[in-house]
Amino acid sequence: MLQQFRVMPAIYQADSCREFCEEFQVGAGDLILTDPAIFDGYFDVYTKGAAVVYLKKYGEGEPTDLMVEAIYQDIKGIPHKRVIAIGGGSIIDIAKLLVQETISPVVQLYDKIIPTKKVKELIIVPTTCGTGSEVTSVAVIELTARKTKLGLQTDDEFADYAVLIPELLDGLPFKFFATSSIDALIHAIESFVSPKANPFTEMYSEKAIRLILNGYLKIAEEGEEARFTLMEDFLLASTCAGIAFGNAGCAAVHAMSMPFSGAYHVPHGEANYVIFTGVFKAYRRLQPEGKIQQLDSILAEVLSCGPDDVYKKLEALLDKILPKQFLHEYGVKEEELPVYTDVVMTKQGRLTANNYTKLDADEVLRIYQSLF
Ligand SMILES: [Fe+2]
Repeated sequence: MLQQFRVMPAIYQADSCREFCEEFQVGAGDLILTDPAIFDGYFDVYTKGAAVVYLKKYGEGEPTDLMVEAIYQDIKGIPHKRVIAIGGGSIIDIAKLLVQETISPVVQLYDKIIPTKKVKELIIVPTTCGTGSEVTSVAVIELTARKTKLGLQTDDEFADYAVLIPELLDGLPFKFFATSSIDALIHAIESFVSPKANPFTEMYSEKAIRLILNGYLKIAEEGEEARFTLMEDFLLASTCAGIAFGNAGCAAVHAMSMPFSGAYHVPHGEANYVIFTGVFKAYRRLQPEGKIQQLDSILAEVLSCGPDDVYKKLEALLDKILPKQFLHEYGVKEEELPVYTDVVMTKQGRLTANNYTKLDADEVLRIYQSLF
C-alpha cells in the first residue's frame, strides 16, 4: 500500500509581516535565521527579544555543511524553543537541520550515522517564490569535502507552520524572481511526470504550471514590472509545486544540476534551468508515449500552440525571463562531465528514482554534452 499524499505544515497567509509576528507572538525564546536586508526592512520592530542570526555572516551563495557547523557553534549556547526561518532556500534548508536534536557533524546526518530527531518547533516564511521548501521535508546542502550537493529527506524536517506573506516578495530583484520561479516551474513539471505522481499531486503540479506560465506570458508582454501584480500567484504556485514534488519527487533535472551548481556556485534555480530542456528532450525521444503527452497538452494549451511546438515556444518564453547559458559559460570543463555523470549515477538515487524514464550513464553524459 502506497501513501498517496501528505501536506504537513499548517499553511497560513498573512497580509503583512507585522500581522504574522503578532499572531505568532514572535519574541523571547525564538531563534530567527534570516537575511539583514529582509529583517531590517520588515521584522526588526516586531520581534524584540528574539535571537537573530544572519546567514550572510557565514558565507554567500548556496548552503554548505561548513556554514551549518559554524552556525551551530554560535547558537548552541542560546536557549530557544522555536526556529523561525525567514528567507530563501538556503535559509530554509539550514533551519530544517537546526531543529534536530544532534546537528554536528552535519556530514554524519547526511550519511545517516546520526538519526534525525526534531526537538524544536519550526516556522518557515519564504521570501522567494521558488523553493517550495516551506512545505517539503528535504534539506539540500553542499557537502564541501565531497564537492556535491545532497538532499536529506526525513519527516523530522517538516515545518510546523509555513507562512506566506506576499509583501515580502516586493523587494525581490528580477533575477532572483526569475531563478526562483523557474525552479518552481521545474518542480511542478518534474513531479508531474514522476512515476510517483498521482491525481492528488497532479492537481498541484498543474495549478503551479498554469499560474507560472500565465504569469510569464504577462511579464513577456508587459515587462518586468508586471511581476509585482502577480506575487500572490507566484507564491501560491511555488507552494503548490512544493506540495507536488514533496509527494511525487523531483528527478533528473535536479540530480544533474547538483554537481555543477555546488562546484561553480550557480544559484539552484538557474542551474536547473540549464539542465531542464536537455533532460526533457531526451525524455521525449526515449519515451514519447505516456505521461509526457499529458504534460505537452497542458503546455500547448497555456502557450497557445500545437504539441509539437511546445518546447520551442517554452524555451522562447523562458529565455525572455532568464537567458540560458551553456555549462562551459559557468567555467565547467569538458573533462568534468564524466565525473558529474558518475556522481548522478552513484549519489543522486533519491532523485533519479523519480525519472520519467530510465536514463543510463551514457544517456546522462550525452545530455551533459548537449548542454556543454
Ligand atoms: Fe528545486
